[in-house]
Amino acid sequence: MSFIPPRPAALQDVRLRWWRFLRFAHSWMDVLTQRSYLMLLGHVRLPLLKLFIINDPVWVERILVQEPARFPKHRLMNYALEPLLGGSPFATNGDHWRRQRRMLDQAMTHARLGLVFPLMGQACAAMMAQLDTLPDGGDLDAEALMTAVTADIVFRAIFSVPLLGADAQRLYEALSRYQRLSQRALALRLFRLPGFGIERARRRQAAIIRNHIGACVDQRFDNVTTEQERSGADIVAGLRAAVDPQDGSTLTRLEVLDQVCLLFLAGHETSASALSWCMYLLGECGDLQDALREEARGISADGIPADTGGVWRMQRFNAVFKEVLRLYPPVGYFPREATQDEVIRGVPVPKGSELLVFPWLLHRHRRWWTEPDAFLPDRFLHRDALPTEAVYLPFGLGERACVGAGFAAMEAGLIMANLLSRYRISGEPQWRPGVVGRLTVRSDKGIRVRLHRLT
Ligand code: HEM
Repeated sequence: MSFIPPRPAALQDVRLRWWRFLRFAHSWMDVLTQRSYLMLLGHVRLPLLKLFIINDPVWVERILVQEPARFPKHRLMNYALEPLLGGSPFATNGDHWRRQRRMLDQAMTHARLGLVFPLMGQACAAMMAQLDTLPDGGDLDAEALMTAVTADIVFRAIFSVPLLGADAQRLYEALSRYQRLSQRALALRLFRLPGFGIERARRRQAAIIRNHIGACVDQRFDNVTTEQERSGADIVAGLRAAVDPQDGSTLTRLEVLDQVCLLFLAGHETSASALSWCMYLLGECGDLQDALREEARGISADGIPADTGGVWRMQRFNAVFKEVLRLYPPVGYFPREATQDEVIRGVPVPKGSELLVFPWLLHRHRRWWTEPDAFLPDRFLHRDALPTEAVYLPFGLGERACVGAGFAAMEAGLIMANLLSRYRISGEPQWRPGVVGRLTVRSDKGIRVRLHRLT
């Protein structure tokens, strides 16, 4: 029988929806019904906002790929992220976004995966050294472990220095509080309720993060001046070297800070979410772990790939990672705005409405997936059996798609190969995580696993 990992209970009584909407402050998943996984278009009537759920792949492509300028990111997304990310590309639109994205693309090309790979390896080695100090088979919070290693990796990729110890702890805690407060702020904003000090509190948390990252940027901003330094392999060097082909300008200190804050957030929060679920799922599937270990040892004697090519050759693992991203897409929905009146599947959609393209629903939609809630990684080994419609989009689609998809797949392969080379992962008996939707898809009480040293 197939393994069905946790999913939130669907709302049964739609009359409770209003109550559930208040629960939005806790998790956006609490407002989904059984029908949400069957319908092609959903309409949620809020007092002050018309909200449509887009599950029709034809419209998904139109919104994300064919006419993105007609459906920009929704202003509420900017509201949620602006204190932390400023004017970075994630939540902005138009010419401003276009310039920021041009510069970011240059920086990411500059810090090629091949150059960043050794930095990822150093972060994995630091994680393994820390695990060596823990008792064999003891309890472990996979979320905390994966947050630490992915934050360390992206920090090294940006600045070429590690993120460890008290600094790291302060940043994770601030980010976790910022997420919780922003989810609440968003719910209050949807109902135009007063902020009750939440706005000030979340800005305080954002400032902790921006001040720390700002100090790191300042060091590099002042020091990276020579041509030789500019050609350094990390992302901040790439951002300093980026030149706008349209007007020859370079990024200001504030623009670099906004970009780095985005890369830090987008570059670890999402990967940490996916890898925590990956650890949970592997902990429940011992045979699959053995198969992955064997695959990795076929590529490199110690089971740890020595270069980027080695990670790409771990086909079985790459299929597992894709299935993890299908079941638990870290970014659960993408909010867009209708800039003019539309008619979608025969339904009038007024200008200003919020349109939600929803990977969480599309990836489990009853119409396109067989056994949609089951963990079946092998489906990604047989391309012919996959849906051809635009219903699998963990990294988004079109011009706003993720710039870090390759980076994320690379670090995922390297981290899991390191872990499996020395440990067997097991789940906690009788314990199942609860799934919640916040900035990313997370467990409500961490993810508990045990690591047993291989003999
Ligand atoms: C498993 C890991 C990851 C997932 C699932 C993920 C997912 C996504 C998605 C879905 C979007 C587009 C959202 C939308 O269209 O509304 C996005 C955008 C973005 N991601 Fe990722 N991401 C991951 C890792 C990373 C990493 C490692 C980096 C950087 C090192 C990164 C940097 C970005 C940036 C900068 C954007 C904004 C692009 C723009 O708006 O132009 N992401 N990501």
